[in-house]
Amino acid sequence: MRILTGIQPSGKLHWGNYFGAMKSMFDLQEKGQNFMFIANFHAMTTVRDGAALREATKDVALDYLACGLDPAKTVMYRQSDVPEVQELAWYLSCLAPMGLLERCHSYKDKMAHGFDATHGLFAYPVLMAADILIMQADLVPVGKDQKQHLEVTRDLAQKFNNAYGELLKLPDAYIPDSVATIPGTDGQKMSKSYHNTIELFEPSGAIKKKVMGIVTDSKTMEEPKEPEGNSIYELYKLFATKEEVETMAASFRAGNYGYGHAKKALLEAYHRLFDPFREKREALAKDESTLEDILRDGARKAHEFAAPTMEAVRRAVGL
Ligand code: ADP
Ligand code: TRP
Repeated sequence: MRILTGIQPSGKLHWGNYFGAMKSMFDLQEKGQNFMFIANFHAMTTVRDGAALREATKDVALDYLACGLDPAKTVMYRQSDVPEVQELAWYLSCLAPMGLLERCHSYKDKMAHGFDATHGLFAYPVLMAADILIMQADLVPVGKDQKQHLEVTRDLAQKFNNAYGELLKLPDAYIPDSVATIPGTDGQKMSKSYHNTIELFEPSGAIKKKVMGIVTDSKTMEEPKEPEGNSIYELYKLFATKEEVETMAASFRAGNYGYGHAKKALLEAYHRLFDPFREKREALAKDESTLEDILRDGARKAHEFAAPTMEAVRRAVGL
């Protein structure tokens, strides 16, 4: 089974990215032939600063390696190192109905957030389809918000196969039910567009400040509280053991347990999971050449997998 996922280097990765997307990839790492790419072409729809894009690309690679990506099990590469995806995206574009792309939520959302209505943003799902189809992926672990893009991918693969013969595999999205929408510090979905994120590797002091600043209601410490739906409790569930979560729920319900106590427990649980990742990241960041070797090696392997598909596709379309 071939498993592929991608993530945009369009900002620092945060808790929502880790629990909403990265973790499913790590969980699947033992289960198949794995590919993880850094979608730097996609990030250009919103990032217009070359140095920032290069830096963010490196940061994403370091974050994944620190949190558990094993280059011996997962091929990690930069999207731009397999430039044929642009070529495949064109062939798919010629089959993609305008109406299908116009219905995509991600495009409409970006418009609503004031991004420029560029052709790149509009064509984004076609490039994403090319990323997946060029590698003949079976399974694509993504967050819930990417479900529609996977439907577009299947649709375009089907259209291609109907026109030119059965060449492209129809992939399935992998969105485990357990993956919830992770709340940000203000209670809305955690997202860099809402400025409510807690980054994976920001300095400990900044993380503490953000955790302590999570918005709550004004109930006093003494009052009993319902934990379900409370952001601190929802975040704690991600980091803590089942028993620890039950203990926090019981404390909230019993009263004499304040939001400050819960925030402290959340911070401790974050550090328990992330301090080892932090150490690993610091060591990796000092060794630029190893990182570059991993990405180059990834590019070479990804290329080996993409090349036969591209050859067959070119022949089929008449080139
Ligand atoms: P952002 O909303 O910060 O711009 P992205 O859209 O770049 O994040 O998200 C990258 C991946 O992380 C996607 O697969 C998305 O589903 C997942 N993800 C991001 N934020 C959350 C969240 N708050 N809860 C669950 N998954 C999330
Ligand atoms: N659109 C995805 C996101 O914003 C990133 C992405 C681009 C992707 N190409 C992909 C994810 C291919 C999975 C497979 O999160």
